[in-house]
Amino acid sequence: MAHTVGRVLVTREELVQRVGELGQSLARDYPDQNPLLVCVLKGAIVFFADLIRAINAPLTTDFISVSSYGTAPASSGVVKITSDLSISIEDRDVILVEDIIDSGRTISYLTRNLHTRHPKSLRICALLDKVERREVEVDLDYVGFTIPNVFIIGYGMDYRGLYRNLPYLAALEAD
Ligand code: PRP
Repeated sequence: MAHTVGRVLVTREELVQRVGELGQSLARDYPDQNPLLVCVLKGAIVFFADLIRAINAPLTTDFISVSSYGTAPASSGVVKITSDLSISIEDRDVILVEDIIDSGRTISYLTRNLHTRHPKSLRICALLDKVERREVEVDLDYVGFTIPNVFIIGYGMDYRGLYRNLPYLAALEAD
């Protein structure tokens, strides 16, 4: 079945507005702690790039890459770190930046993993919360939008590697 870009769910202007607000919240909460913002690759790259520029406070960045479930079914909850952080997070204020929280398994695994490295604090900032799909309880500290259970593409999010470059969020539509 062929797929295409469906209806726009969040426009470019709405993204600019909301990401700006999230940046202001983070700058207010971390005025001088130099938090470490961790981008969870690949989907979060576009959000991350906009978010850090909306935070008017000192901060540091790093990147982590995970493969959700590999070949295992999603229900197995097996998450693998395919490329790890480049610096120590010990005694740092860490903010994990995700594009979307779906079942919650990826962020739950990452949170548990990073806690073993003894950060001073660990919070989660997610652009999208697909709350209807949650299988694992997670506490999200900063959320851009709560969204319905539709397949989202654009603004970093893909379908089979495509559409990450769309500057807005859309639903994937089957032809
Ligand atoms: C997406 C997203 C999260 C995860 C959320 O990543 O970026 O990491 O899925 O799903 P969950 O809450 O059910 O665990 P994806 O596997 O699409 O990889 P990508 O970011 O590299 O596109």
